[in-house]
Amino acid sequence: MCGIVAYVGNKPCQQLLIEGLKRLEYRGYDSAGCAVIQDGALRVVKAVGRVSNLEDRLEAIGSFTGTIGMAHTRWATHGGVTDVNAHPHTDDKVGIALIHNGIIENYAALKTYLEEKGHVFKSQTDTEVLAMLIGELYEGDLEKAVQAALREVTGAYAICVICEKEPSTLVVARKGSPLIVGIGNGEYIVASDASAIVSHTTQAMTLADYNVVKITPQGFRTSTIHDVPVTPKIEQLELELQEIELGGYRHFMQKEIFEQPKSLRNCFRGRCDAKEGRVILGGLADHAKELNKVRRISLAAQGTALHAAMIGQYLFEDLAKIPARAEYASEFRYRNPIIEDGTAIIAVSQSGETADTLAGLHEAKERGAFALGVINVVGSSIARETDAGVYLRVGPEIGVASTKAFTGQVAVLTMIALYLGRRRFMSAEQCTELLTALDSVPEKIERILTQDAAIRAVTQKYCDRENWLFLGRGYNYPTALEGALKLKEISYIHAEGMPAAEMKHGPIALINEGMPAVFIANKGRQYEKVLSNIQEVRARGGHVIAVATECDEHIKRYAEDVLYIPDIPEPLSPMLAVVPLQLMAYHAAVIRGHDVDKPRNLAKSVTVE
Ligand code: M6R
Repeated sequence: MCGIVAYVGNKPCQQLLIEGLKRLEYRGYDSAGCAVIQDGALRVVKAVGRVSNLEDRLEAIGSFTGTIGMAHTRWATHGGVTDVNAHPHTDDKVGIALIHNGIIENYAALKTYLEEKGHVFKSQTDTEVLAMLIGELYEGDLEKAVQAALREVTGAYAICVICEKEPSTLVVARKGSPLIVGIGNGEYIVASDASAIVSHTTQAMTLADYNVVKITPQGFRTSTIHDVPVTPKIEQLELELQEIELGGYRHFMQKEIFEQPKSLRNCFRGRCDAKEGRVILGGLADHAKELNKVRRISLAAQGTALHAAMIGQYLFEDLAKIPARAEYASEFRYRNPIIEDGTAIIAVSQSGETADTLAGLHEAKERGAFALGVINVVGSSIARETDAGVYLRVGPEIGVASTKAFTGQVAVLTMIALYLGRRRFMSAEQCTELLTALDSVPEKIERILTQDAAIRAVTQKYCDRENWLFLGRGYNYPTALEGALKLKEISYIHAEGMPAAEMKHGPIALINEGMPAVFIANKGRQYEKVLSNIQEVRARGGHVIAVATECDEHIKRYAEDVLYIPDIPEPLSPMLAVVPLQLMAYHAAVIRGHDVDKPRNLAKSVTVE
């Protein structure tokens, strides 16, 4: 969602701030702004729309040469998309500027208090309230004022604050929203995401909740909001610059679709011993006692991660014989869930920062569940709050439309299901068979990717249609949901995903002449039934595009267009079947002229409930 980058050091920082914002553009935003202390005075510039609009405004003013500053991309929550609501927000009496990710939940009460003290607000945001509160509490020490203000705040925040009365000091803090302090040579770059730091330094400090850091070019001091000193944890950032660059691809989404063979090889490396029929998951190794006790699994996630979790539900019941239920974390959280002894919650999330998923996890933990994470971003909030877990290891996902994280999530859930299955009833032979097939997934995805041009040609035939159906059964019912989500997210085509059998219970009324219906019709237990469902669509004039198993010639009698995937045991088929759907969504968006990596209204990581 919102993005933060800030700098204090000895160099003019305007260009660095803008470059940092560009690295964060993928997170999704609708306005941008920056503040620099220039000749002892705060200079604030904001613009609605892209970072390039902000650049234009800065160019029109003439470059700032200040060596302390900060910049922000805002994804609107409180108040519309306007220049005034964009960050930084200021307290003009003291000369304080602040940028903020997160939500100040008690902002209304704080605002009333500040209005009574004579403060006049320009914006409709919760952030301006925090800026004014810091100003109100300022008594000549910015660090102390920030600590005091944060003691009054409930909600989530990652903030950066500068003050013209202390022109070499940057104060930053976090609770619930990520913030990293990159440590350079006499300079510090703070950001909400390592991608804005890694081209300057790979040494960084990750803040824990309620940490406040006072930074000057001479050094930094870390404390809590109650001013208790904290020993900083400095680590090496793992991120490679090439991982966050396009490297010849037109879009990050396209790059990440094509990266899937490599990302899955990384995900499997050292974890699958097909010869011995066993799975080695370091993140679970120390939790044998709790895992042996697991009698029921709840999976909580949102969006694409939920579709992966739904496949996980099939995997746990099928391969490990453990009752499982996947659901929207946002619904799980508020439906008074029953957590019995022996329940494990698995939070599935690429970013590890999704507020709904985090809230679901908290709820389950409070009720006594053993908490596992299936997360991509190392050290993220969800990763830190789970008892154990397995990282995806698919590398940073920049594309807002999640692709390689989905196949990574399904791969990890498959390995966990096999791991638990082997601890219960599954024979080494059965495990060997599935692990051997799992090992073939990257190479089979490579084969699907060679059909890119053919998939584009099929997409071109139908991408002017405004309504699509995606249908699948069993393991590939969630894959159908994922195909529909991908298409609507980036091409803005209305698409519905559902179990193929459900169509005749109502949605069949939608089918009219020429409506595209994508069926996942790979060889498996329900193949014949899917063929019947296809006929029901054809009989009503719908166009059928089938995702079928290689060498299935019979399907051509039923479907106008066929996209082939290699044969694979059914539990592993979603990892292959989703790839043509990802490519169709990608091509539909490009053909319709949309900016694939910056879809309207979407944010990469949704940190509000
Ligand atoms: O970071 P997470 O995996 O927790 O994100 C969950 C969803 O917000 C995410 O999958 C979203 O649906 C994507 N835009 C899907 O492409």
